[in-house]
Amino acid sequence: MKSILITGASSGIGKAAAQFFQQQGWNVIATMRSPEQETGLRSLERVLVTRLDVERKDTIEAAVAEGIDRFGRIDVLLNNAGYAAFGAFEAATDAQVRKQFDVNVHGVMQTTRALLPHFRAQGGGTVINVSSAGGRVAFPLLSLYHASKWAVEGFSESLYYELAEHNIRVKLVEPGNVATDFTGRSLDVLKDDSLEAYAAYTGTVMKKQLESFETQSSTPEHIAKTIYEAAADPSPRFRYIAGPDAEFLLDLRSRVPEEEFMAGIAQQFR
Ligand SMILES: NC(=O)c1ccc[n+]([C@@H]2O[C@H](COP(=O)([O-])OP(=O)(O)OC[C@H]3O[C@@H](n4cnc5c(N)ncnc54)[C@H](OP(=O)(O)O)[C@@H]3O)[C@@H](O)[C@H]2O)c1
Repeated sequence: MKSILITGASSGIGKAAAQFFQQQGWNVIATMRSPEQETGLRSLERVLVTRLDVERKDTIEAAVAEGIDRFGRIDVLLNNAGYAAFGAFEAATDAQVRKQFDVNVHGVMQTTRALLPHFRAQGGGTVINVSSAGGRVAFPLLSLYHASKWAVEGFSESLYYELAEHNIRVKLVEPGNVATDFTGRSLDVLKDDSLEAYAAYTGTVMKKQLESFETQSSTPEHIAKTIYEAAADPSPRFRYIAGPDAEFLLDLRSRVPEEEFMAGIAQQFR
């Protein structure tokens, strides 16, 4: 029986993935910052709910050890935990810039680093990183978020080659908009009231982004199925685009000249 360790399993995509893998007969190590608040997963058989804060190495190491202790092995690591800082780059504090990278990039690196010795020792494993369509294109006022996801893409692509030598597969899942609490609990709004110059543009972009979330979002269950497809796929495929909006956008990006594509994005947020 296969086992998966998931970060950020308290809600959204991570929770849907925990439920979907469990339904497929997998053992699931559903990790989160506040396991004491978890409802719904704990009662399922073959699910271990435990603490893991991707900013705290001690909790990563403890969760990995507990998972191996309970299920004997971990076959797949799903690096899912993440959030987005939204707003003018100039309005961000140093702490907000650092935190975006601590969670979305260093968190992925630390958790991967904690699993690699285990994967090598057992002769293989799979790392699936939840990136975003926004890991290959960018929208205004999300500079920190896009920088973090573009970093995850480069990190993953390089790792793909060196880990193949050890029978460890690296895969990226790239969702478009997903109807989760991402625009609620997982949005850090960058605000500096002295920066009036950005106020009108920020209002327009925020409104259009929220509209697009309301009208064209996939469900977390849809993304969970794509993640499962990636986990079960024995082929060397690297990227899994998830959601019709992401497919449309990334297809357009690959076909349309850069200036034309970027002019279209600028126009969309006027
Ligand atoms: N929703 C979208 O439109 C969308 C699109 C593309 C990509 N994604 C990516 O999908 C992933 C999951 O997001 P979601 O949409 O499912 O949003 P979500 O429901 O808000 O889930 C985000 C998860 O990340 C966790 N998290 C945040 N900081 C953490 C930390 N330091 N340590 C451990 N866990 C932490 C949150 O835990 P708490 O419960 O403790 O806050 C929560 O479980 C993210 O990587 C996001 O960038 C989302």
